[in-house]
Amino acid sequence: MSARILDGSQIASDIRKEVTAEIGAMAAQGIRPGLAVVLVGHNPASEIYVRGKVKACAEVGIYSEQHAAPETSTTADLLSVVDELNQRDDIDGILVQLPLPDQVDAKKVLLTVDPAKDVDGFHPLNVGFLSTQRPGLVPCTPAGVMEILKRSHIPIAGQHAVVVGRSDIVGKPAAMLLLNANATVTVCHSKTRDLPAVCRQADILVAAIGRAGLITRDFVKPGATVIDVGMNKVSDPAEFQRLFAGDSKREETFRKKGSVLVGDVHPEVALVAGALTPVPGGVGPLTIAMLMYNTLKAAKMRRSSGLEVSG
Ligand code: GUN
Repeated sequence: MSARILDGSQIASDIRKEVTAEIGAMAAQGIRPGLAVVLVGHNPASEIYVRGKVKACAEVGIYSEQHAAPETSTTADLLSVVDELNQRDDIDGILVQLPLPDQVDAKKVLLTVDPAKDVDGFHPLNVGFLSTQRPGLVPCTPAGVMEILKRSHIPIAGQHAVVVGRSDIVGKPAAMLLLNANATVTVCHSKTRDLPAVCRQADILVAAIGRAGLITRDFVKPGATVIDVGMNKVSDPAEFQRLFAGDSKREETFRKKGSVLVGDVHPEVALVAGALTPVPGGVGPLTIAMLMYNTLKAAKMRRSSGLEVSG
């Protein structure tokens, strides 16, 4: 038996279509949501992500602008960029791409983003709204995980969800969303004792650790749903062999490019899981789709007095 593959690209495309339709309706009222992306320095991965975000905005009808700041930027420099964006009425969403250079106090910068424009959902006010089940802006990747589960009709209420990873960006908010959806939630991390045994209890296993292929088949209860949030670049040949020996398609990619993209879940998990998100083409595409959704949501919230996030 092989796991049902949950097609994140298709779900992301459906969400983007829904967002595009709503933005079209807003355009008829003369409203166009706007997103500002702040990119500091020249981190190659961040540059790729930001390009994808800006391109997606154009496709769904969101106005976007990119603010490139030098690698040497100080906390004060970035606070003034964010402050200015906070004041602008044509900007509904502000995203500061992470990671920021070491000399910058990232927490201070994220705290300065107007919570009503915080499309990443990283501001402590939005974190608090999520944990107390109030309307607010929810981090994009965990929100995407929930969309995959819901749109694939995977039951959540009463199920045991195990989240591996406790980052502020993915693990913690994913755990909170699953809890809000009435799952019984366990959060694991590097100090968890007997990780495979804890993971084997999961009906829904969310892997967000950032370690290529860490989740092997002995971590997975037969029939469980496995959501792979990992995006790891593997360029070591021995590591490649451990993960993909005998996979001729990936071997060819590895030969040509010298690396392949791998999730946190080992490919052999497809033999035991009931459902599985692939990498690439699983959670990844949802992150950008949910950013478009959040920008639209922020634009709507800022214009309707009933759903004010701040003020
Ligand atoms: N860097 C990696 N993931 C993210 C994300 O979701 N948002 C931001 N702002 N930066 C990131």
